[in-house]
Amino acid sequence: MSGLKFLGLVLLVFAFAACSSTPTNADSTDAGATANDVGGNDVVSSPAFPEPPLAVNASKEPGTFETQLTAEAADVTLIPGKTTHVYVYNGSVPGPTLDLVEGQHVVIHFTNKLPEPTTIHWHGLHIPAAQDGHPSDPIAPGASHDYVFDIPKGSAGLYWYHPHPEGKTASQVSMGLAGMIRVHPVADPHGHDLISAEFPDHLVILSDNKLDAQGQIAADTQIDQINGREGDLLLVNGAVKPTLTVQAGQTQRLRIINASAARYYLLAIPGHTLTQIGSDGGLLTAPVPQSQILLSPAERVEVLVAMSGSPGTTTTLQALPYNRGAMDPNTMGTLTSAQLDLMNIQYTADQPIAVTTIPTSLAVVKPIDVSKATTREIKLTEDMMNKGFFINGKKYDGTRVDSSAALGSTEIWSITNKGDMDHPFHLHGFPFQILDRNGTPEPFVAWKDTFNIRKNEIVRIAMQFNDFPGRWLYHCHILEHEELGMMGTLEVK
Ligand code: C2O
Ligand code: CU
Ligand code: CU
Repeated sequence: MSGLKFLGLVLLVFAFAACSSTPTNADSTDAGATANDVGGNDVVSSPAFPEPPLAVNASKEPGTFETQLTAEAADVTLIPGKTTHVYVYNGSVPGPTLDLVEGQHVVIHFTNKLPEPTTIHWHGLHIPAAQDGHPSDPIAPGASHDYVFDIPKGSAGLYWYHPHPEGKTASQVSMGLAGMIRVHPVADPHGHDLISAEFPDHLVILSDNKLDAQGQIAADTQIDQINGREGDLLLVNGAVKPTLTVQAGQTQRLRIINASAARYYLLAIPGHTLTQIGSDGGLLTAPVPQSQILLSPAERVEVLVAMSGSPGTTTTLQALPYNRGAMDPNTMGTLTSAQLDLMNIQYTADQPIAVTTIPTSLAVVKPIDVSKATTREIKLTEDMMNKGFFINGKKYDGTRVDSSAALGSTEIWSITNKGDMDHPFHLHGFPFQILDRNGTPEPFVAWKDTFNIRKNEIVRIAMQFNDFPGRWLYHCHILEHEELGMMGTLEVK
């Protein structure tokens, strides 16, 4: 099967052993399990850190990026003796990374070879509504469609693409469909020079999946639907606990994305500082050193990590325990993930190289002028009896417009979480800035398109509707919550 080409490289890197699982990881959704116990199957792995494949630019025109993306079903071996049915873009999980440059004209020739309708949504990109992959623009099985858009100036950052069909977003993402979009600044079309060419630059795509005893992608249980599905197969760039090899002293640049349906990652590297340099939509004004960074579903973060360990030692990229709350009374309102090892970091035996200093100023991020902004209230609620999630008391209905904004206006959205759980809130098409959380000003200005809102929190965000009239979605990025109603439509006109 043709779809297997990259999967062979990307997914078959798992090594298996029948009875040698190391009990280092435990999964919050299955108390007795270890992360190496996937659906009751032992999985042991630590392949070399894989970089996701790159999409090839077929255009000869300067300033144009043109490529073919095909979604199709494929059967792969994840568990010994078992074949897992997955969905892939161009044969790989994750799909090929689109390496783009600000100002570029992008043409994506998309073919849907899946047995069901789909769309591609370009998460975080500021592009026209008709290109957004809205659920009302499905691509039928067997059909092709061109997505055409321009990458705005000043939008250098890390974005991603995933399906967004009506009622099927969660299941198609869980089947494996997602890929990254890296937008480089015009001043630096090839990547890393703006920060330092000396820092090795890695894309780190965090995802999880859930397999059943037959090795198939497991269907959501009732509890998965309420909490959002977390799986015990933890993947970094499609591999189980890969090993990144580093030289002592050599600062690494990690561009990390949470592409999981519901899992939260409180990231840390023991003994090391995560120096945040970027957020969803690109660089910050100045680096922010942190010991841990929370990444809720669909959020991105860019960090520099000074490799201060000794030659020959190892450390790990970890997800620390985090309680994201629960509406399930059986768990008394808590849903705390276990400490998980995501990726090994192995120092070579080489002597440390001299440390390159991190620049102290990174980019110009102008705060949005909110002096003329109008405020819109958004309230998130849950109802377990009706298995529903609501925005301003309503479940999503694609035929209804929930909010209208005037073209050219600036708005402040005051979002209140009246539920029992955290919700990662996302707005399509219009990157925003967080003003404050429960009245506390956000410590630094950043371009965001998704942020976590905790139970009882009020978060105020600001955005400008300067162009691109049309219908836009906003929703919880726990994909099960989105499908159970926590989504609304904004019309800009
Ligand atoms: Cu990642 Cu509606 O989007
Ligand atoms: Cu989006
Ligand atoms: Cu939610």
